[in-house]
Amino acid sequence: MSRDVIAKIDLSALKYNLARAKTFAPNSRVIAVVKSDAYGHGLLPVMLGLQEADGFAVAHIEEARPLREAGIDKPILILEGPFARDELDEIIALNYQVVVHEWVQIQWIESLLKKKERLTVWLKVNTGMNRLGFSPQMVDEVWSRLNQCAVVTKTILMTHMANADSAVDSRTDKQLYCFNQVIANKSTEVSIANSGLLVHYSNKISFRDWVRPGIMLYGASPDPSQVGSAYGLKPVMTLTAKVIALHDLKMGDEVGYGGHFRAPRSMRIATVGIGYGDGYPRSQQTARAVSIGGQRCAVVGTVSMDMITVDVSALKQVSLGDCVELWGQTIAVEEVAKSAGTISYELFCRLTRRTKREYIPL
Ligand SMILES: Cc1ncc(COP(=O)(O)O)c(C=O)c1O
Repeated sequence: MSRDVIAKIDLSALKYNLARAKTFAPNSRVIAVVKSDAYGHGLLPVMLGLQEADGFAVAHIEEARPLREAGIDKPILILEGPFARDELDEIIALNYQVVVHEWVQIQWIESLLKKKERLTVWLKVNTGMNRLGFSPQMVDEVWSRLNQCAVVTKTILMTHMANADSAVDSRTDKQLYCFNQVIANKSTEVSIANSGLLVHYSNKISFRDWVRPGIMLYGASPDPSQVGSAYGLKPVMTLTAKVIALHDLKMGDEVGYGGHFRAPRSMRIATVGIGYGDGYPRSQQTARAVSIGGQRCAVVGTVSMDMITVDVSALKQVSLGDCVELWGQTIAVEEVAKSAGTISYELFCRLTRRTKREYIPL
């Protein structure tokens, strides 16, 4: 028996979710968000499942590089834009598109004087998230400065929603109103939607030219109170580990570090070879379960670096080496995230190198 902690990634599910995302915005082009190693799913392997995307978005230039090196010639958008003037050389050479959100980035672009250089810029408007972007009052000035740059061949207007993970939130309407005012007198391409806006606003607004789904492609719900299947999405990642030990406890026996769990009766405990060293969350706010042979079993005791302990008293049959699902098909990743006081995004991204990725081909 090997220890194997495996995140199995279903590329057909990824492809399916991309097609599903398009049904929410049938008239828009899709920039698939693949930053942070495709939300922990593996940047290059997921390209096979995302072949129908019109482009890809990453956070910074280092994340863009492997895509071009792998021969991906579709638009690649760098969401945080250049971090230094020097980066623009590579950005132009490798034909990346860049978000601009700070004056210094405008100055760097203005310093590009060679007429043969070409750059598509996404001007980010801060409509209320107050994280990145120019205020609506500044947009006219940025717009005209960019228009005067010979290298800038296209300026796309974009904004990002802070609260679209909720189905109803007046702050989203406020951001949309603000953005509509900004784009009203500008004739250009526009991009607004992340997954949350896609699933919650498809009947309310036009998503215009480009949409930027991330989490929904990986099958998880942008709304933490829902599961992906509520929006017709399929789980892409199934995380599994193995039973490595079995123990019969008497009433009153304690389990794990700190003895935080005390057996309320005689019971059978399975030790499973996964822990926070693999990326399984230690913090616990509410009850948590795993699945063995399709049956839910409660996680009991503290999560260790390499192991968790599970109540298998109700199982008729359990053996060393049995496969345990931490999330995926039976246990929704959103459920585990909620139990740990976090979101699916974080669980995906924080799987460590110890966790092997395996890919189910198309
Ligand atoms: C600018 C921008 N657009 C789109 C996305 C994708 O968001 P989501 O994964 O919620 O769809 C992100 C992710 O954080 C983002 O920063």
